[in-house]
Amino acid sequence: MEARPMSIRAAREDDLVAINEIFNSYVDSSPCTSRTDPMSLEDRLTWFHGHTKALPVLVAIEPSGLLVGWASLSLFRSQQTYPLVVEVSVYSRPGYARSGIGKRLVVCLCSEAARLGYRSVIAVISDANQCAVSLFQHLGFVQAGHLRELYLKHGVLYGIYYYQLSLSPLNEPA
Ligand SMILES: CC(C)(COP(=O)(O)OP(=O)(O)OC[C@H]1O[C@@H](n2cnc3c(N)ncnc32)[C@H](O)[C@@H]1OP(=O)(O)O)[C@@H](O)C(=O)NCCC(=O)NCCS
Repeated sequence: MEARPMSIRAAREDDLVAINEIFNSYVDSSPCTSRTDPMSLEDRLTWFHGHTKALPVLVAIEPSGLLVGWASLSLFRSQQTYPLVVEVSVYSRPGYARSGIGKRLVVCLCSEAARLGYRSVIAVISDANQCAVSLFQHLGFVQAGHLRELYLKHGVLYGIYYYQLSLSPLNEPA
């Protein structure tokens, strides 16, 4: 499919309804997230406030103004301190698959991660999520681990893959 025209920019608070709507549309329909209950807007706002300049959230916007995808950098294992690595998440609007949104967002976010001085970016992907595996492999991420049977969703057991992209070392993370 042809890449859709879109612009990428930093997320704003008034994007959170659309960001959350896209995320929640996968909660019930897909094992791509282990979550089984929709995220509230209040929790999404808290999440957004935790995304400082060093942990950006980007959105993809169509010329019509519709938010068609988002991606974020988060601390990798937030209870630990691994300041040189960040975790990437990416979600494109259902019905807009395979039109270049995920790729554009992850490419922009990885350049942001390099600019911010991180050494690598990790994607945590359900082991049933072949689309995401292809997306990250396509962008140079390599498999760095497979943890099996971590969660049950709709009666099926799923694990996760870790995929990692090494970035050129720049400065200390901001
Ligand atoms: C994974 C996801 C972000 C891909 O977004 P997308 O906008 O459809 O991706 P793109 O159109 O940019 O596709 C980029 C690459 O991903 C892979 N891909 C995407 N959809 C695919 C599919 N249905 N089957 C196989 N590969 C697929 C391909 O390698 C594709 O490159 P190509 O089209 O040049 O072959 C989207 O399916 C999604 O939001 N899934 C739910 C959330 C999720 O799984 N996130 C990843 C973990 S955080």
